[in-house]
Amino acid sequence: MNYLVTGGSGFIGSNFLNKYVPLNPTINFINIDALTYAGTNKNIEIQHFKNYQFIKADITNENEIKKIMYEFKPTKIIHFAAESHVDQSISTPKKFIQTNVLGTFNLLESAKEMWQEDYSEKRFHHISTDEVYGSLEKSGYFTESTPYHPRSPYSASKASSDHIVQAYYHTFGLPISISNCSNNYGKNQHDEKMIPTVIRNAVNRKKIPIYGDGKNVRDWLFVEDHCDAIWEIISNPITIGKTYNIGGKNDISNWELVTHILTILAKKTGINIDNLVDLVTFVEDRKGHDFRYAIDPTKVETELGFLPKYNFEEGLEITIDYYLKKYNVK
Ligand SMILES: NC(=O)c1ccc[n+]([C@@H]2O[C@H](COP(=O)([O-])OP(=O)(O)OC[C@H]3O[C@@H](n4cnc5c(N)ncnc54)[C@H](O)[C@@H]3O)[C@@H](O)[C@H]2O)c1
Repeated sequence: MNYLVTGGSGFIGSNFLNKYVPLNPTINFINIDALTYAGTNKNIEIQHFKNYQFIKADITNENEIKKIMYEFKPTKIIHFAAESHVDQSISTPKKFIQTNVLGTFNLLESAKEMWQEDYSEKRFHHISTDEVYGSLEKSGYFTESTPYHPRSPYSASKASSDHIVQAYYHTFGLPISISNCSNNYGKNQHDEKMIPTVIRNAVNRKKIPIYGDGKNVRDWLFVEDHCDAIWEIISNPITIGKTYNIGGKNDISNWELVTHILTILAKKTGINIDNLVDLVTFVEDRKGHDFRYAIDPTKVETELGFLPKYNFEEGLEITIDYYLKKYNVK
């Protein structure tokens, strides 16, 4: 069996490959990644495995994607590749439309053409975000039937791709599945993202920026749990044509998250907590900043029995240890 993973050199895709390539020696994994600024093969710990192969390719290149598909003939496609940083989608939205919308379309078209004789055992799994649902007030949760209401170019591009993926199921019967996940944390996340930035700036005694008043709420899931949920979904035929919300039931404000990280950092490094908290600087809010995201994961729990293995404390400890090592803090 051959599994094609897109964007496997980025944050979540690399965690997925690092875990599932060694666990599945009879499955050949091919990682196609354009290695944008966000992806690096330094994230891949399983390069030497016989059942792993890397091809540098851009999903916006229709012909190249088709060629790779026909050569490799994957039975499953696990689609992580995306432009993923909301701030960048505000400054440079075009590449979000190109990669997230057109790139996904190219993959779907190739899959439809390649699999047209026989859809059995095939799967196109699309990794998406809870941001497609828009912003919640102080209460309530996103379920799979919450109407889409994306508000940033990033979430709008992901929402568009979700709709196109669903259309390929309803119109052509393509065996798809979609997961909409909350914020991930863990190793291999790009330095530009919030948790790595907080840790790096704290240990370097630099200002720690928080948007607005820090009250915006996000749900956080340890990246390995997200990867496990994806594996469950792609391995179970009942999930075809369906969407699953995945979250960690850890919805906390950005301010709470930052102070939590700083408290753990103070214990680990011996730096005075007050000195760390003094570094926090509230900066002008992100344009169109969604107030709150929170996930109701009942469907993935009841249909697939999926529950996260890591609680927030454990996941955060592992994550902070990883970045302290990465940023050379003894
Ligand atoms: N990080 C999160 O908290 C989170 C939460 C929910 C959903 N998601 C979704 O999960 C997926 C992976 O997110 P991530 O955080 O690992 O992102 P990332 O930015 O860390 O990695 C994206 C990867 O895709 C590659 N890529 C980008 N454009 C490409 C192109 N045109 N062709 C081929 N490869 C390309 C990059 O080189 C990179 O390796 C995305 O679809 C994202 O929308 C992320």
